[in-house]
Amino acid sequence: MASTLPLSQSHSFSSIKLPNRVPKPTSAPSSCFLLSKKSSSLSPQLSLSSTRRYTVVVAATTTEMPKKQSKGGFVDEMRAVAMKLHTRDQAREGEKEPEGPPVVKWEPTINGYLRFLVDSKLVYDTLEAIVEKAPHPSYAEFRNTGLERSEALKKDLEWFKEQGHEIPEPSSPGISYARYLEELAEKDPQAFICHFYNTYFAHTAGGRMIGKKVAEMILDKKELEFYKWEGNLSKLLQNVRDKLNEVAANWSREEKDHCLEETEKSFKYSGEILRLILS
Ligand code: HEM
Repeated sequence: MASTLPLSQSHSFSSIKLPNRVPKPTSAPSSCFLLSKKSSSLSPQLSLSSTRRYTVVVAATTTEMPKKQSKGGFVDEMRAVAMKLHTRDQAREGEKEPEGPPVVKWEPTINGYLRFLVDSKLVYDTLEAIVEKAPHPSYAEFRNTGLERSEALKKDLEWFKEQGHEIPEPSSPGISYARYLEELAEKDPQAFICHFYNTYFAHTAGGRMIGKKVAEMILDKKELEFYKWEGNLSKLLQNVRDKLNEVAANWSREEKDHCLEETEKSFKYSGEILRLILS
């Protein structure tokens, strides 16, 4: 059965035992998206104009994401580095200054969202093919985790096609990221694992919230398969955290640091794909 966890139950963490090198979160990490609509009403999805523009303001303000159980291990380090790379208006733990105004205003369009979904599919196809092929044996641990998104995205794109939308070809952000992942997968397993973690986990957090709000604004609340998981999402995530911790337990401190340093690139590539929603 697909996960029906509301967003408010999908992220909770408290008493996280962070290693000395990263600060412990001090406040309840909670976020939501403030929405303002430029258009006065939503139309049924079939008559949606792909040029109708709404504004999404993403802000870290309320109680959507309650605290979580302690997870422990290297994943805590990866998470702490990732959270710091968010802007303050994306997540409470974010430390980056928002680029431009303090809140980010988004004006999603169906065409932009389709570009985002197509490029996301290319990235997930690539990650899932790499894990299947496992050029480094440890990647085999990450087969069939239940977090895979490729098939779900395929169904979503078929649905859009049935609604009469033209599905675009992958664009430069997705193509560049897929190439980069293939390159890393062969020669740099620590860096590759960093991208694997960030891509799948970001999607269950901020990605999921973005999807929900964009759907409210331009898809008449249609819930895409991309945002549904078979079974209990929290358990799937915990299984993957455990595997990541096991794999990283064999790494030296230098290799762990190398993995953490790659987080910034993960944000850069994924950020470019996210921005397609607004294109
Ligand atoms: C508009 C862009 C984004 C927003 C609004 C956003 C928002 C969030 C929020 C609200 C959380 C949950 C924090 C919590 O647990 O309470 C989160 C977690 C996270 N985000 Fe983002 N995020 C964005 C982009 C990204 C990007 C580009 C990446 C990296 C590719 C990323 C990686 C992560 C990771 C790894 C987590 C931790 C997930 C977990 O512990 O389960 N995020 N994000």
